[in-house]
Amino acid sequence: MAVIALVGNKGGAGKTTLTVNLACALNRIASTAILDADPQGSSLQWRAIAESDDAPAVFASDRQMDTILATRRSKYDHLIIDCPPSVNALQTNQALRVADLALIPVQPSPLDLWATAHIDDAIREAKRVNPDLRAVLVINQLEPRTTLSRIMRQALAELDVPAADTAIRRRAIYRAAVLEGKSVIDMGSRGRAAAEELEQLINEVVTS
Ligand SMILES: Nc1ncnc2c1ncn2[C@@H]1O[C@H](COP(=O)(O)OP(=O)(O)O)[C@@H](O)[C@H]1O
Ligand SMILES: [Mg+2]
Repeated sequence: MAVIALVGNKGGAGKTTLTVNLACALNRIASTAILDADPQGSSLQWRAIAESDDAPAVFASDRQMDTILATRRSKYDHLIIDCPPSVNALQTNQALRVADLALIPVQPSPLDLWATAHIDDAIREAKRVNPDLRAVLVINQLEPRTTLSRIMRQALAELDVPAADTAIRRRAIYRAAVLEGKSVIDMGSRGRAAAEELEQLINEVVTS
């Protein structure tokens, strides 16, 4: 089983968006559930409006993550943990200790980049107890052909944590899908471009 934690130091980076979309995509190939470790409970809210029985299960996990993980571990091939927007939060630290992969969405903006600079320390700290942890930055809400987006790649290269080649673009379909309790892959032709980049991300960082 693989545990994937969506972590970061800022709200609005795309942790919940990537959690639900990755979970839906992975659930098509192997049984996948979400642990909502953010007290805001956005993933739980998403599941509450999801009408499809095929949508991944979402479990509350804002405390005692170890116990919750232990009881769910044998049942699922993938567990995706949606973390609160702070690397200092207890839930983030717990998630980083048990995760195989930490995905760190970051928006192409200087403020987000500065908030992400602290991630190196948190990952280094977590690796002391979880030496096999892989961590990857994922540019989210990319607007291609903007100067900021170009500079972002160079700036991210300064961090210890590598950035995925695949970036997730800013697309209205990500918002529309969440509003319906769905993922972009359930949105038909309107979601095709998003579904393709999501699949590319999965191939690059999850199943590789
Ligand atoms: N790639 C994207 N394109 C368009 N909107 C996005 C994208 N990623 C996230 N959003 C929107 O940005 C906002 C913050 O995303 P969210 O996933 O809630 O971040 P976090 O969980 O890190 O706080 C939400 O309104 C979400 O719909
Ligand atoms: Mg969130």
